[in-house]
Amino acid sequence: MKQGKFVTLEGPDGSGKTSVLNKLLQMINDHCGIDPVVTREPGGNMIGEKIREIILDVDHTQMDPRTEALLYAASRRQHVVETIRPAVEAGKLVISDRYVDSSIAYQGTGRDIPVELVKEINDFAIEGYLPDVTFLIDVPAEVGLQRIKQAQGSRQYDRLDQESLVFHEQTREAFLRLAKDQPQRIHVIDGTKSVEEVAQTCYQLLITHGILEEEAT
Ligand code: TYD
Repeated sequence: MKQGKFVTLEGPDGSGKTSVLNKLLQMINDHCGIDPVVTREPGGNMIGEKIREIILDVDHTQMDPRTEALLYAASRRQHVVETIRPAVEAGKLVISDRYVDSSIAYQGTGRDIPVELVKEINDFAIEGYLPDVTFLIDVPAEVGLQRIKQAQGSRQYDRLDQESLVFHEQTREAFLRLAKDQPQRIHVIDGTKSVEEVAQTCYQLLITHGILEEEAT
């Protein structure tokens, strides 16, 4: 890698994004000897993780949707300034589990806040700093919800997982609209395929985008 790059993974709950990320990291390490900077939202650094705790606390049922949207944007601001941008500028490959597209999809559509307002507070937070490439791991809402149910024993069930099927469907549609509007940046990947297949597709796309170099044979 000659230059730092910023890649994000997005998708509805239960899309398998985190498993795909782990597999992808292994492939990048095995084939290219690169250890990307891996981070997530909300969170990514001390301040961000504290904001995450507030947002996802199951006891915070009173949280107003705009409060929630502002907290996500606040966490993101800190993430860009303290974690993502410095690492990219230092020539690293940064991969984040969720970023601004999640806010547009979740807060902008599912929560009935006009999407323009969600975009505005996020523009304030990120100042135009967008990923070089985004992988949208797409699964139908029923598949995502089914996977969440199955994983309940192994993964903490958070406040947002409790939302209805309709919410999950709206979120998925919003993600797909974003991908349609920004096809250069956002690649839709079929998340019903195996983790290996999805990770392989992401890996190939990183090569296509010149972020990773093709292996010499
Ligand atoms: P997390 O446990 O990280 O879920 P996942 O493994 O699916 O990413 O919780 C993050 C939750 O926060 C998830 O339900 C999506 C939601 N979210 C938003 O609503 N807006 C945002 O801007 C971000 C980053 C996440």
